[in-house]
Amino acid sequence: MARVVVVTGGASGIGRAMVRRFVDGGDRVLAVDLDDGRLRKVIAEIGSDDVQPWVGDVATAAGAAAMIEAAVGRWGRLDVLCNNAGVLDNLTPLHETDDATWRRVMGVNVDGPFFACRAALPHMLAAGRGCIVNTASAAGEHGGRGGASYTASKHAVVGLTRNIAWYYGPKGVRCNAIAPGSVLTKMQSMVPHNDGFARTAPYIPLIPPAGRAAEVAEAAVFLASDAASYVNGSILAVDGGWTAY
Ligand SMILES: NC(=O)c1ccc[n+]([C@@H]2O[C@H](COP(=O)([O-])OP(=O)(O)OC[C@H]3O[C@@H](n4cnc5c(N)ncnc54)[C@H](O)[C@@H]3O)[C@@H](O)[C@H]2O)c1
Repeated sequence: MARVVVVTGGASGIGRAMVRRFVDGGDRVLAVDLDDGRLRKVIAEIGSDDVQPWVGDVATAAGAAAMIEAAVGRWGRLDVLCNNAGVLDNLTPLHETDDATWRRVMGVNVDGPFFACRAALPHMLAAGRGCIVNTASAAGEHGGRGGASYTASKHAVVGLTRNIAWYYGPKGVRCNAIAPGSVLTKMQSMVPHNDGFARTAPYIPLIPPAGRAAEVAEAAVFLASDAASYVNGSILAVDGGWTAY
């Protein structure tokens, strides 16, 4: 039976590549994003009834819950949740971080996965199986790969992933994260904060060439598959070796 997959941030970059890859693998996918225009373009490009758009804000409890209910309402089950939507803080150091930036980054990157998992878990537990794949980052386990709010948010995603894995693994729900390094997406077109960039600049030559979104999507698809049946609580670096040294 085709699996039912929810992918957030599905209109662009890594999420868009995940949507395409899950559909190509025979799954039914609810592609979720705030950006209606871009999302409809992605759906049209894929051109399959097995992918449906859901325009909404995952940073709100109501938005995340409605998205899960939309998938279950349409296809009657939920097998995989990919919490991938995320926003950057443009390398802003803590003393320059305004309240709105902190709230937005924490809202999308941390509240989003929390709200979505809270809505999804009852369905997965009722079925006795399910799989969650969060998109963390190299900034989720290292201090110098983003600004203050982005780094804090991705460390939180790592903690959330491990806690869910520990608590729900024995109940049939696996939870893992991918930790991308530098990936060519819309996110990379941000204008960095001057001081944050200056602090980062000496390390830039050490970053391996940027990866493609499709290469990152493969890692998520693996973690969501039965081939990863014994993988739970892992943070899988997909960074060309950036964090290996
Ligand atoms: N690109 C990189 O180098 C890189 C590196 C490490 C981690 N990541 C992570 O990968 C994930 C995807 O990033 P990307 O590079 O593909 O970025 P992207 O900007 O290309 O795509 C992110 C998508 O998320 C959507 N989104 C943002 N806020 C949302 C919300 N509240 N509700 C619903 N959708 C929302 C955006 O509209 C956008 O389509 C993010 O979690 C990001 O932190 C990216």
